[in-house]
Amino acid sequence: MPHTQLAGSQPVVRTCPFSPPGEYRELREQDPVAHVTLPDGIDGWLITRYADVRAVLSDPRFSSRRRGVTGNHLGSQEIPPPPPGWFIFMDAPEHPRLRKMLTGRFTVRRMRELAPAVERIVADHLDAMAAATGPVDLVQDFALPIPSLVICELLGVPYADRAEFQHNSATLLRLGAPAEEVAQAQLELNQLIHRLAVQKRTEPADDILSALVGDGDLTDEELAGIGVLLLVAGHETTANMIALSTLCLLRDPAQLALLRAEPEHADAVVEELLRFLSVIQFGIRRTALADVEVGGQLIPAGSTVVAHLPAANRDPELFPDDPESLDLLRPHRPHVAFGFGIHQCIGQQLARLELRIALTSLFERFPELRLAVPLEAVPMRDEMVVYGVHELPVTW
Ligand code: HEM
Repeated sequence: MPHTQLAGSQPVVRTCPFSPPGEYRELREQDPVAHVTLPDGIDGWLITRYADVRAVLSDPRFSSRRRGVTGNHLGSQEIPPPPPGWFIFMDAPEHPRLRKMLTGRFTVRRMRELAPAVERIVADHLDAMAAATGPVDLVQDFALPIPSLVICELLGVPYADRAEFQHNSATLLRLGAPAEEVAQAQLELNQLIHRLAVQKRTEPADDILSALVGDGDLTDEELAGIGVLLLVAGHETTANMIALSTLCLLRDPAQLALLRAEPEHADAVVEELLRFLSVIQFGIRRTALADVEVGGQLIPAGSTVVAHLPAANRDPELFPDDPESLDLLRPHRPHVAFGFGIHQCIGQQLARLELRIALTSLFERFPELRLAVPLEAVPMRDEMVVYGVHELPVTW
């Protein structure tokens, strides 16, 4: 039913750790384009139907320049200019100019070539876990190092710098982080990449930063921004998917048995976990450049719009068979966990590769893997842009 009054706040409180708050189901059915207050205090339009989410994300009248989801623009109605190089926040022509410098690096073929390196990294971490006595934190010992190492190798960032960049990435992606902390984190990340770019100018290697330096088409600021974007997006997202998927499977023995019995279905399992868990938990933002009608509702020019990926991925219009449950053998449908349109995740093939190898190898190597604490004691990432667990104590 169309209306323009602020209806309430974007729901953020979960009752089940693996599902978005139950209110999204009601919103999708009764108020699929809802005018709400977003978690950082901004007015916005919350889009919860799959078809509407895809329509918004493929419509150039919705700009990727946006009012921030993290603390950097807390409460402000201003739309900040995107930091140099951060093409995720840009529109044409800047966005395709920068994105096309990278697309060749993330193709299916490139990822196939990368598989043995990912298998080696995963096997090394499983060996180290096996040598431990007593419970380990699966986040620190497995889920976080794997994508961090892989993106470091691809970019040409020393893994020794991980403590600093993991800490700073977490600050960028924490809802309500103070603006000064966010600015400092951004500065330190830029300085890290800038330092490396200077080195690579004289000692180029076979990595993305060297290729970008060699390209000669980028300002130093753009180069640093692209490097930071890839570094941050490349490890936080996948790390959380690995850890949350593990927890989800440990809590659903019937589904885990399916994965074990039919490892050849691992690709389908990864797709269903991406759909079901949809870790970009607050959705992704756009700004209306004109008055646009979505699902029968007029969205005024200048409005912030949230394409809510978790709600869209549970829309019965697309997933008619019990979309609220995890069904690893569900027939494939095109979910939107990686977004949609020109900004659809550039690293999606990399994420799929890492998830497939990490999850199948983990459960093969540790058939008795189990939680070392009650589910209620696992700290969930409720305040983070990328949902997941802060820690995952496991034993076997
Ligand atoms: C499971 C893991 C991942 C998830 C769920 C995920 C999700 C997403 C989503 C939803 C978007 C669209 C954002 C928007 O339209 O505003 C996106 C874009 C992006 N992702 Fe990922 N991502 C993942 C892994 C990765 C990895 C491994 C990389 C490393 C290269 C990466 C790099 C990027 C970049 C650079 C963009 C911006 C693309 C553009 O604006 O053209 N992501 N991702």
